Amino acid sequence: MTSLLVTGGAGFIGANFVRHTISHHPEYDRITVLDKLTYAGNPANLAGLEVDLVKGDICDTELVDDLVGTHDVTVHFAAESHNDNSLADPSPFVHTNINGTFTLLEAVRRHGTRFHHISTDEVFGDLELDDPNRFTETTRYNPSSPYSATKAGSDHLVHAWIRSFGIRATMSNCSNNYGPYQHIEKFIPRQITNILAGLAPKLYGTGEQVRDWIHVDDHNAAVHLILDRGRIGETYIIGADNDHINNKHVISLICELMGRAPDAYEHVNDRPGHDMRYAMDSTKLRRELGWRPRYTDVDSGMREGLEQTIAWYRDNESWWREAKAGVEATYARQGQ
Ligand code: NAD
Ligand code: DAU
Repeated sequence: MTSLLVTGGAGFIGANFVRHTISHHPEYDRITVLDKLTYAGNPANLAGLEVDLVKGDICDTELVDDLVGTHDVTVHFAAESHNDNSLADPSPFVHTNINGTFTLLEAVRRHGTRFHHISTDEVFGDLELDDPNRFTETTRYNPSSPYSATKAGSDHLVHAWIRSFGIRATMSNCSNNYGPYQHIEKFIPRQITNILAGLAPKLYGTGEQVRDWIHVDDHNAAVHLILDRGRIGETYIIGADNDHINNKHVISLICELMGRAPDAYEHVNDRPGHDMRYAMDSTKLRRELGWRPRYTDVDSGMREGLEQTIAWYRDNESWWREAKAGVEATYARQGQ
């Protein structure tokens, strides 16, 4: 039996990971979540689960040392995760994403426990719309925003700790996730809750940007495969081959699935420095570990995943309602 520490487990992907672990991986007999419970962390995401929730900062050396030293495996999700926020104030991104990852790595080095670092496709920068290439494990880092630069910094720390100190770590870079429990500041839940709240969905700029959408359960299934059978020291790209779908298409699909005209949205200010296109080549993960996404292409998979996600937000209004006015007021101040 194995004990598991999940940093950021009260956030979107981390909470889904804890749920996925409890339902599919009984070998993890003790699960602890370390989470600062920022605006993005919500204890309700773990309600009813047999999990110890420790409220704390991943930069707290003593706390992190104690928790890492008493768990066999640490999976590190905790981060400041929203690009728009990083443009308004980058400082918490440097604190958490860089100093927090450093603090965890030092604890892992002291205790020799297993570590998995969760990262993003954004560390590679972006591609032109007509560029046929996809990001691979060897693509050069070229981050654009303060968020992606601090995630890139944290990835470099992990690489260095593996090479210099031989820590037992793996890493994964995944594309844009969607699914239940995602904060309503993010693209898909913002549009769904706008429609539910009687507001117009909001598209940045022309909406030509492409995100390689993946359902959060497919991401978390991949992380478990890497934990079980991934090679120590290796990085795995995770992506579901949705790199042909632009934001305009996704917002129209949400409108349509929610009974609105496909163009019933508003154009708002674009994001400064907005990345154009992300595309992931997950061949290594598929060949080495046999991973396959359950939710696949736009006509079947993403439609199914979006229907499930829309139903979740519709059924869980109490989960998002209180935050809605504040999130929209912040966007309105930015002209978004
Ligand atoms: P999220 O913002 O929903 O959750 C982040 C969690 O981390 C929150 O619960 C928050 O309270 C916690 N946290 C923040 N600072 C902390 C600190 N200093 N100490 C302890 N806890 C802290 O983020 P998410 O979308 O679930 O992303 C999780 C991870 O996955 C991040 O590392 C992100 O970079 C990565 N990622 C996200 C996506 C995506 O599409 N959302 C895609 C690829 C990778
Ligand atoms: O690619 C992985 C990354 O995906 C993760 O590393 C980040 O943590 C996660 O936040 C996400 O980053 P993005 O910036 O791509 O996601 P976001 O949901 O903020 O925006 C998705 C796209 O939709 C992006 O092109 C901006 C656009 N957008 C966003 C919002 C909030 C809109 O058009 N309208 C909106 O209201």
